[in-house]
Amino acid sequence: METKYLGPYRSLREYLDALEYFEHVLHIDTINQDRYEATGLMYRLIEKFNNQKAPVLFFDKIHSKNKIFKNSSVGNLFGKWDIEAIALGIEPTGNSGKNYKLAVKKIEQHIGKDGKWPTIKPVIIDAKNAPCKENILQGKDIDLFKFPFLQTNPADNGCYINTGSVILEHPKLGRNVGTYRCQIKNPTKIGINPQVNQDGWRFLDELKRQGEKTAQVAIAVGTDPITFSMSGSKVAKFGEDELEIAGGLIGEPIEIIKCETSNIYVPAHAELIIEGEIPLDKMETEGPFGEMYGYIGGKKEENFFMNVTSITHRNNPIIPNQFTGITRGCLTAPIEASLNNKYRTHFEDFIGLYYPLEFPGFCFINLEKT
Ligand SMILES: Cc1cc2nc3c(=O)[nH]c(=O)nc-3n(C[C@H](O)[C@H](O)[C@H](O)COP(=O)(O)O)c2cc1C
Repeated sequence: METKYLGPYRSLREYLDALEYFEHVLHIDTINQDRYEATGLMYRLIEKFNNQKAPVLFFDKIHSKNKIFKNSSVGNLFGKWDIEAIALGIEPTGNSGKNYKLAVKKIEQHIGKDGKWPTIKPVIIDAKNAPCKENILQGKDIDLFKFPFLQTNPADNGCYINTGSVILEHPKLGRNVGTYRCQIKNPTKIGINPQVNQDGWRFLDELKRQGEKTAQVAIAVGTDPITFSMSGSKVAKFGEDELEIAGGLIGEPIEIIKCETSNIYVPAHAELIIEGEIPLDKMETEGPFGEMYGYIGGKKEENFFMNVTSITHRNNPIIPNQFTGITRGCLTAPIEASLNNKYRTHFEDFIGLYYPLEFPGFCFINLEKT
């Protein structure tokens, strides 16, 4: 086995190369998402092979909203036990369950006895070394429909960015990175959906209370899988920096670069960065959207939105689609390891917990019999 394909990875592309090497990827020549074929295929594969065996899908050619996108759309990237292990640098043993346990254990050992995650501060790199700056779109060239952000379900309110990391930064509040679904409302406007209990919501609310009229924001799409996992899970607490925690877990700093139109710093190896501003004195409707539990959620009456000021991207950017409600959202070993550590310190008969891929919202808890 070539150990160079074991994680952690610096970018989505390194991760995809490894998934190819370990034969987890199925290429689909051509598919028409205007007829929801990609969604249908995802359902059928999971029905037939279950979540553990259904492949990562790479769409060589996908039709979406009357455009054809080549080699730039991928789905079902996370959650399988074998993949969780290789992403954390664990050589697969041939036993998927064992691989996953090794992944969770590796992270449990990484977290300090006090429950704190070791951190490494991100480093700023030069723009010429930052792949996300290979193309810079401004003014009339900004058009979100140039990229394969898919409409996953017929009842969704249009195309969504469902694998973005929404980055907020402010001199007093620091940095917050969170994954919230983002509705593309027009070529330069995006609805953003942090729930009211989220740190992202709290951050924006805090800025409002301080009298700010707008918040600077950037959305990073297609980052390395560990950064994405920190963005999509409650590992960092309010005031803690997800990028520092991701660096700590990877073992080297996340490389960052300044946005073109704001003071926000973003992961330099991301596939695509959307920069913009969130007005804090206005809200708009958002949704409906097929939610993670597999049902269509209601329309939100009042949600945040952003006006896009610039888009920067790698050549031929690859956009992951989550197929929300069908596939896992991000690597989850870090979340389970974090909760295991927490509950073990509170309950002495607690052994561990597991969120099954097949049943979002369910959690199995293993307790010592007394
Ligand atoms: C693919 C994916 C989509 C998600 N969509 C949302 C969403 O629309 N709204 C939300 O509040 N949380 C969503 N989450 C969960 C949050 O990302 C997660 O709770 C995270 O901790 C939020 O960051 P924050 O605590 O810094 O606000 C999603 C997670 C993933 C992995």
